Amino acid sequence: MILYPEVKYMRFDSSRHITGLRSLILDSVKHIQKKNINIPDIKMLELGSYNGESTFLFSSIIKNITVVEPFKNGYDENDESSYANMIKVRKNFEYLNSENKNLIKLKEVVSDEFFYNNKEYFHWIYIDACHKYDNIKKDIQNSINLKPIIISGHDFSNNGVNRAVLENFKDIEVLRYEDDSWMVKIL
Ligand SMILES: C[S@@+](CC[C@H](N)C(=O)[O-])C[C@H]1O[C@@H](n2cnc3c(N)ncnc32)[C@H](O)[C@@H]1O
Repeated sequence: MILYPEVKYMRFDSSRHITGLRSLILDSVKHIQKKNINIPDIKMLELGSYNGESTFLFSSIIKNITVVEPFKNGYDENDESSYANMIKVRKNFEYLNSENKNLIKLKEVVSDEFFYNNKEYFHWIYIDACHKYDNIKKDIQNSINLKPIIISGHDFSNNGVNRAVLENFKDIEVLRYEDDSWMVKIL
């Protein structure tokens, strides 16, 4: 029985989303490996998964992913995802990632709350939660405090994201990918 077939026709239609994220994944993994960390040992934190398409792509290589996703409406009046049926979004996430659920730890809280309680280290952090300037700024600063090897995220051309990224990484190169992802090598 096919439960949520619409998952197959969402952003996976966009080859740019897939090729961009795949390039980001390969570059990030290669860089982390240079620090003598093997792929099965890489710990990743993803902020904001929505239907779980990015999580699905990450989990093709990364075998330990913590996903922070509250599945709650109303976080940003300018983001259409903010008005989605989050019960359905959550089911899409579970359906799409059902084969990899043992690799994924889902934390259904906002990123502030997650960082406040978190004691774990992550080699790689991917930020794609609330794109409002104040929110992404806090997500970046909380991520920097964890001293990961890589901080990256999505929607670099969004005004709030762009400003927060460039302000926080003034002296480090910000790499760009064709799906509008960005990446910074911290270590
Ligand atoms: C742009 S979508 C993520 C898309 C996903 N990364 C992908 O590429 O398929 C943004 C997500 O961030 C979540 N979100 C919004 N505010 C958040 C917060 N403060 N902390 C964590 N997640 C948040 C929303 O619920 C939404 O699902």
